[in-house]
Amino acid sequence: MCGIVGYIGKEQAVPVLLNGLAKLEYRGYDSAGITVFDNGVYTIKTQGRLANLAEKIRQEGQKPSHIGIGHTRWATHGAPSDRNSHPHNSQNGKISVVHNGIIENYLELKAFLEDKGYHFVSETDTEVVAQLFEYEYDGDMISTTRKLLQQIRGAYALGILCSDHPDTLVAVRKDSPLLIGLGKGENYIASDIPALLEYTREYYLLEENEIALLKQDEVKLYDMDGGEIQKEVYHVTWNLDAAEKGGYDYFMMKEIMEQPEALKKTIQPRLTEAGIHLQDISLTEEEIKNCGRIHIVACGSAWHAGIVGRYVMEEVSRIPVEVDIASEFRYRNPILQKGDLCIIISQSGETADTLAALREAKKQGIKVLSIVNVVGSSIARESDDVIYTWAGPEIAVATTKGYTTQLSVLYLIALYFAKVRGTLSEARLGAYLEELATLPERTAEILKMDAKMAEIAKKYAFSKDVFIIGRGLDYAAAMEASLKLKEISYIHSEAYAAGELKHGTISLIEEGTLVVAIATQSSLFEKLVSNVKEVKARGAKVLAIAPEGETAIEDVADEVVYLPKAGDLFTGSYNVLPMQMFAYYIAVERGCDVDKPRNLAKSVTVE
Ligand code: F6R
Repeated sequence: MCGIVGYIGKEQAVPVLLNGLAKLEYRGYDSAGITVFDNGVYTIKTQGRLANLAEKIRQEGQKPSHIGIGHTRWATHGAPSDRNSHPHNSQNGKISVVHNGIIENYLELKAFLEDKGYHFVSETDTEVVAQLFEYEYDGDMISTTRKLLQQIRGAYALGILCSDHPDTLVAVRKDSPLLIGLGKGENYIASDIPALLEYTREYYLLEENEIALLKQDEVKLYDMDGGEIQKEVYHVTWNLDAAEKGGYDYFMMKEIMEQPEALKKTIQPRLTEAGIHLQDISLTEEEIKNCGRIHIVACGSAWHAGIVGRYVMEEVSRIPVEVDIASEFRYRNPILQKGDLCIIISQSGETADTLAALREAKKQGIKVLSIVNVVGSSIARESDDVIYTWAGPEIAVATTKGYTTQLSVLYLIALYFAKVRGTLSEARLGAYLEELATLPERTAEILKMDAKMAEIAKKYAFSKDVFIIGRGLDYAAAMEASLKLKEISYIHSEAYAAGELKHGTISLIEEGTLVVAIATQSSLFEKLVSNVKEVKARGAKVLAIAPEGETAIEDVADEVVYLPKAGDLFTGSYNVLPMQMFAYYIAVERGCDVDKPRNLAKSVTVE
């Protein structure tokens, strides 16, 4: 979703801003712009890609400024257009603002300002911030920002410039992430680390309503009351190449191939001789034993991971589990009881609905354990306990290694809970732990099917509709596979619980319709074969994913992809892998922009 960068220092600001914005392109955007100083505020912005902005800057001539703010916008209020692009400036042209998030009371504020004679040129909520800043301006950047914060409601990360203070950049945030990069004789703001990495590894994480005042040689931080505060300096531990394609055509394939390593980093430190060691959690054994119900809440693929989590958790720990979509959970007045546990799953740790669901759970007084990839993200900070997925930065919009590492943490939690609650025999638990330890190698083995999946994808790349069926853990994989296919290849696809198809949807199957049957659990294999026969009889073309040795499937399917045999419990981690590659190669074949699918954003920081 929208990206923010800001710079103050000795270098030319324009290239630094454009470079930083390029590093945030993966978040998804539909317009871009920058403000620098050129005898006052000078703003240049345009609809479309960054290349359009760079060209416009070239045509108008680059301004020799050492301070600036930049933005990539993903439209929320008002269509993608030059006018609605950021930065937005105040009426007297002195204030310029970039904003991520949504100002919820902008209509009210706009009416107030219009009454005072302010004229608006865009349809955005952000322009209200610039105008209100001008209205409240008292000559001091901090006190004016405080007055602004007292009036705006909603989610925001803001970068603010004022031409009266050409040596000052102000940043503030609430519910939208913002980092302050610390350089030598130069400082930065950015909504995500990749924008900073080329320049610095040291940064502050702004907390809710903390205000940062950046000058070339110093950064001062203030709380809402204007008191100066000190903060811990964070250090980025990963390299820029982790955020580069490293020889792959797209980040998505690089990230698919990084899964074995990401799984190893996530699982290994938590699997010791003595069993599972969740050093990261404070939940006591007593709380685990008395846990009445688990509520897993997430969005999109993370929600699919939660569905796998429910099957696994209920199977091994016998705790009832509910899985909710965060945007539903937050408004449906969920019944949460003392002793329940909420598990929040989020790769970015910034998804607005998921964050709101977390707050709902905390408001109702239950503990929150989150599974997060981004260290220090809002969800990580607000949870009672966090278990990090050590997947490294995920740049492609469609998640892959984020998802499979989430699954691995859910397996760890489920088996840990089973151990504490004594719901598995020692022998069974031991066997499960052994299999969990081999997950990275088995994943690597399956990823060797890359070329085969590319070949199969070629055949089906121009399908109109694809139905993906499965039962149990294979149904969860079907949902995730269908989402992957839809989001990056734009092929219409539906995931169905295999037994449910005949209750209506089977009427859509006609001669040549592609049905992918995921049938990797031995216990449900025969049931799935029957479902395949049903669609075959209606003319479907069937691609099956089955465990090695289950050759009976060849009698009914047109094509079979065999996976190495695994225990039923862990198929949830394997069955999705060929489908990630299938979706990827179909998207490539169709000439889609795999890493940046249309209309989508990597980090969904608005509800
Ligand atoms: C799909 C995808 C999304 C995310 C969802 C939640 O490939 O990536 O569905 O899973 O937007 O995002 P996080 O995990 O960052 O909360």
